[in-house]
Amino acid sequence: MPPAGGAPPRGRPGARHRASHLAAHWPIVGGALHCERVPLSAIAAAVGTPTYVYSSAGIREACRQLDAALAGIPHRLHYAMKANGSLGVLGVVRGCGAGIDCVSGGELYRARQAGFRGADTFVGGVGKNEDEIAASIAAEVACITAESDDELRLISRVAVAAGATAPVAIRVNPEVAVEAFHEYVKTGQSGDKFGIPFDAALGSAQLAASLPGLRLVGLHQHLGSQLFGMAALAEATGKLLGLLARLRAESPAAAAALATLDLGGGIGVRYEDEDEPDLAELGRIAREAHAASGLEICLEPGRFLVAGAGALLTRVLYHKRSGARTFVVTDAGMNDLLRPALYDAYHRVEAVHASPLHERVEVVGPVCESGDFLALDREIGAVRPGDLLTLQTAGAYGFVMSSNYNARPRAAEVLVDGARWGVIRERERHEDLVRGERVTPEWSTIA
Ligand code: LLP
Repeated sequence: MPPAGGAPPRGRPGARHRASHLAAHWPIVGGALHCERVPLSAIAAAVGTPTYVYSSAGIREACRQLDAALAGIPHRLHYAMKANGSLGVLGVVRGCGAGIDCVSGGELYRARQAGFRGADTFVGGVGKNEDEIAASIAAEVACITAESDDELRLISRVAVAAGATAPVAIRVNPEVAVEAFHEYVKTGQSGDKFGIPFDAALGSAQLAASLPGLRLVGLHQHLGSQLFGMAALAEATGKLLGLLARLRAESPAAAAALATLDLGGGIGVRYEDEDEPDLAELGRIAREAHAASGLEICLEPGRFLVAGAGALLTRVLYHKRSGARTFVVTDAGMNDLLRPALYDAYHRVEAVHASPLHERVEVVGPVCESGDFLALDREIGAVRPGDLLTLQTAGAYGFVMSSNYNARPRAAEVLVDGARWGVIRERERHEDLVRGERVTPEWSTIA
C-alpha cells in the first residue's frame, strides 16, 4: 500500500488544472473523452488496457509551435528520442521535418529503422562506447557530441581506423543555476556529470580541432528539463557565445568548420498548473545567438514535442477503502508509468466518461510496492470497476521508462490520426517475457 501520509499530497485542493498546449487534441465529445476523433473507449475495447495513445496532430502541432518560435533564422529541431522512441512516434516527428538526437547505439538503430538518415542525426550521451562511436561514424551522422577529452581521443582513433572524418561537437557544461522539478533532471550545473566543465571547454575544442580524423562542427549545451522562464537559457547561451568568440579569436583555424550551435532541449510542458514555457523569449535568445555567431541554431526538445500528445489509458480494477483513504486500483502501474513513483511527478487523471460525483482517491497500480502509485490524494470523478481512466501528458518518458517488473507485459501503443487509429506496438505476451532465457544454462567449463 502507498505509504500512509508518506508522499506529499498532490492535486492540491483549490489548485486548478490548466489545459496543456496540446489539450485541444483530447476533446470530450458526447460526454466521452476522445483522442482527436477517436473515442478512447473504442481503442480500449479493441486492444485492451493499459495502452499508450498518441495524437499525431498533437505532435505535429508541438513541432509547428517550436518551429514558429525559431522562424527567420537558420535552425533545426533534433527530437530527443529518449522521450519516446517508438517507431510510430518517430515516423510522425520525421514527417514534420525534424532531425533526431540519439544517446545510444540502440537509439541510433531505432532512428534508422524509422527512416532518419545519418545527415538528420546527432549522437550524444555521456558514456558512448567504442561500438556506438563506430556505428555513428558508419552511419555518417551529422554530429557526435563529445563530453570529455578522453572521448574525443577515442572518436579520433575510431575515425582514423575507419578511414573517416568524424564531425564532432563539444558539449559544454555552462554551469548555470537551473530550476527543475527534480534534482535528477538538472544537467547544466557545476559538478554535474554531463559535458565539459566551462573553464576546460576552450582547451577541449582546440584538442578536437587538432586530433586526426575529427572535424569540429558544433558547440552544444543542455541545461536540464522543464525550463519555463528561459533566464537560465539566456545566461548559458551568453556564456556559450563568449566561448565561441574566444575560440575564434585565439584559434581561428579550430573554429573554421563550426556550423551549429545546439542550445539543447528541456522546454517545459504543463502537467498541472505550470506556466507555459516562454517560446517568444526562446525565439529571441535563438535569434540573438544566430546574429552573434552566424551559425545554424539547433534545439533538441524531447518532452515538448510528445508529452501532451500522449496519454496512458487504463481500466479500473477495484475500488476500496483502507483507513481514511479510498483506493482506485488500476491495471496500469509503476512499471507502465514510472514518473509518479520516481519523481513524485504529477499526471492529471481524466476519466473517459466523467462522473459528476467527485471523490478524493489514491490511484494505485497492481505492482507489489508501496511506491506503486499513479496519483495520490486526487479529486476525480467517482469511478467503479471497469471504468476507463487516462493519465494525461504521458507521451514523454512514459512507455520508454516502462519495465517488466512483476513480470508484467509492457503496454500496447496506439497512434491516432484524425478519425483513424492503429497499433504501433503490440502488447507484449507472456512468451515475450522469457525470450532469450533458459532454465538451465548452456554451461561452459573452465579447463
Ligand atoms: N538533450 C539532452 C542532452 C538531454 O539530456 C535531454 C534529456 C534532452 C535533450 C531532452 O530534454 P526534454 O526536452 O525532454 O526535457 N526522465 C525524466 C526526464 C529526463 C531527461 C533527460 N535528458 C522525466 O521523466 O521527466
